[in-house]
Amino acid sequence: MSPIPKAELHLHIEGTLEPELAFELAHRNGVDLPYADPEQLRAAYAFSDLQSFLDLYYQLMDVLRTEDDFTALAEAYLARAQAEGVRHAEIFFDPQAHTSRGVELDSVVRGLRRALDAAAERHGISTRLIMCFLRDLPQESALATFEACRPYFGAAIHGVGLDSAEVGHRPSKFADVYRLAREAGLRLVAHAGEEGGPDYVWEALDVLRVERIDHGIRAIEDAELVERLVRDRVPLTVCPFSNVRLRCVDTLADHPLPAMLAAGLLVTVNSDDPAHFGGYVDENFDGVRTALGLTNDQLRLLARNSFEASFLEDDEERRKRLLTEVEAYRFPGQD
Ligand code: ADE
Ligand code: ZN
Repeated sequence: MSPIPKAELHLHIEGTLEPELAFELAHRNGVDLPYADPEQLRAAYAFSDLQSFLDLYYQLMDVLRTEDDFTALAEAYLARAQAEGVRHAEIFFDPQAHTSRGVELDSVVRGLRRALDAAAERHGISTRLIMCFLRDLPQESALATFEACRPYFGAAIHGVGLDSAEVGHRPSKFADVYRLAREAGLRLVAHAGEEGGPDYVWEALDVLRVERIDHGIRAIEDAELVERLVRDRVPLTVCPFSNVRLRCVDTLADHPLPAMLAAGLLVTVNSDDPAHFGGYVDENFDGVRTALGLTNDQLRLLARNSFEASFLEDDEERRKRLLTEVEAYRFPGQD
């Protein structure tokens, strides 16, 4: 049975690096990983919070050195995504995490784009690329990265995001670079309300003027904020497996997703860093169905939301076609 068609809107390409590919690239590039083999690396995926994950995530990236490495990484994800029912993917990458290691920006962007540009024909997946600023670095670094990426805006890079360690690095720290991004015509998203409180979500909306919130699970703690998000139909790209693995929620059965749906929020389900969190996007769909008892109608709503929340404005025909596919989809056992 094929999975329901969906868009993936919260996916860090560096977080799709599976241990086997990490070892292959480490070997190819002469990088020493502090693990004996892929199994030992996999066993290290026990996180106590966001920071403990980020430490490993940045360490592992060291194996990504050449344009071909970035193509291999993205191609492996896109092949997997196709099998998961993904028909459109808006993919994050962290330019500063690579340029700070001496990798050329051009190798990163060209390498990723090579795989993304082939994906429509090869995998039936349309794509967008979103550059994220590391919020634990100063805004000056974000501004320099923004200017270095300017030649790629439009054709290769469609938007900006904000990721890495949230608490203590408020959205307002990046007001200037977001204003420039808006003036450059880029789409605006930001991680907020993952570990940080609802006040981080307010700032992302009011100061950065983002169009979508990544995670945003803590928005549910603030009734006035929920009202605002519902009124403006601001999408929240929720990542259930990630929230459990990074201990933002205790278990999948405790996840606020049903409450968010009941509140009328435009939520989508995504995988965040699937190589590290125990599953890709369809496993997240399956997980919330099983642990939270989501109905077929709710799963169809999540799939519909994913296309409605996507940046497919320049291809409304495709958005309409994909929404029609969602409505026509029959779940296993459904007549
Ligand atoms: N970078 C990669 N995954 C992230 C997450 N879940 N939160 C913040 N930054 C990230
Ligand atoms: Zn994320």
